[in-house]
Parts: sequence; C-alpha cells; structure tokens
Amino acid sequence: MKIVVKKTKEEASAYVAELFSDLIKSKKNAVLGLATGSTPLDVYANLVQKYEKGEISFKDVKAFNLDEYIGISPTHEQSYKYFMNVNLFDKVDINPENCKIPSEFVDHPEQRGNFTVYKDYDEAIYLAGGIDLQILGIGLDGHIAFNEPGEISDYTHVAVLDQSTLEANSRFFDSIDDVPKTAVSMGIKSIYNAKKIVLLALGENKANIVKQMLESAPTGQIPATLIMDHIDLTVVLDEAAASKLNQ
Ligand code: PGA
Repeated sequence: MKIVVKKTKEEASAYVAELFSDLIKSKKNAVLGLATGSTPLDVYANLVQKYEKGEISFKDVKAFNLDEYIGISPTHEQSYKYFMNVNLFDKVDINPENCKIPSEFVDHPEQRGNFTVYKDYDEAIYLAGGIDLQILGIGLDGHIAFNEPGEISDYTHVAVLDQSTLEANSRFFDSIDDVPKTAVSMGIKSIYNAKKIVLLALGENKANIVKQMLESAPTGQIPATLIMDHIDLTVVLDEAAASKLNQ
C-alpha cells in the first residue's frame, strides 16, 4: 500500500484526478469505479476542467458506481445517479449508456445467507474488462460503499444502512427520517477485484477512522481494513485526515 499525504484537500483531490486522467490518456476505453459523497467532489471538478481544456475525453470510458439508495428515483436530487450527472457525467462527453449504477441490475436477485445479492452488476463489470481504477471514500464508521460494520457481503447486494451512516447522510435531507434505510451496494470482493484502488479521505473528522483503518488488523467491524492488502492500493489523505497517524 502507498500512502500519500498532501497539505490541503485541494492538493489531495488534484493528485487523485491526475491518476484518473493519466489512466484515461493511456487507455481511452478505461473502466472507472466511481463514488459519491463529499469526498470526490473536487476530483470530479478537476476532471471536468481537464475535459474542458481538451486534455481528456470520456467518449469511450465506462463508469460503474459503487452504490445507490433504494426507494428514491434516479431524478431525485439526493439519488447518486443525479449526483453523478450533475457533478461529472453531464459535464463531459461520456456516453450515458456507459454510466452504470447497481440499482439498474436488480432483475435476478439471489438469496445468500442474510443478503439479497445481485450478481448481474458484478458480471457487467467483469464483461467490461474489470475496473481499472476505483475511487473510494470512507465513512465515519469505516464503511466503503455501503459495506457497513459487521454487514459484509462479497458481491453487489442490498445493504441496510448503519445508524451512523443515516446520521452522516441526514445532512443532505430535510430530516434523518427521509434518508433511505437501504441501498444497493457493491460488495467487498466487487471492490477488491478492481485493478487499482485509490482511497481518498479528507478533513479532520476522518482522522480517527483513517488511523483505525491503517492500524487495525483486518476486521469486518471496520470494513475498509478488508481491502488494505490490495495489490495496488493508494491511500490519499490531506494533512487533517492524516493528523492522528503515528500518535
Ligand atoms: P463523504 O462520505 O465523502 O460524504 O464523507 C464518504 C462515505 O460515506 O463513504
């Protein structure tokens, strides 16, 4: 694992955007694994700028998103589809048909233990050649996508959101009661199968969980620890998110 600490969130985001643009320049039909939330916003803004300057084109790029809420429509302002359209897809030359979200792949549910699993999404990723570069944020509870503490499933599945996630995400809704309680989420293996992963964490409120992620043994109670031994993982932090390391 490589750890990169940048002074500011802008510099950390620019670093991650560079990883994506280098990939897209060298592989026009790259397969991107994309995330929503506050963390990747500046990364996407940087990529839009690079597109506007003519440095990169998304014409042949395919994108797979990590997760989507269940129970709100793709046109709802808080849906992740809407987020991606507004922050990236509508602003670049990507083909909308190449922008996939897991909630579009729910026709063939399988029951695996406690989980409803949607293998069609993982198969679509596989058939596209696999994800070349996956960006991840990390939740305050250590989740990646909506793999919540103690609720780990390998492949794309229905995830029940943790109370801390409901609280964290309530900032985007009128009240916590409006936050959807479930989502369709890529699983730990869906994510782990990416060829390269970049986990970005920004700000002081992520400092504790970043420390736990990097210093704990792998445990389902801190889902991000389960991908720390990925063969090509870069953890990118700003100084605030790195501030509790080595303490
Ligand atoms: P955030 O969310 O980027 O809004 O902090 C990260 C996450 O929950 O994975």
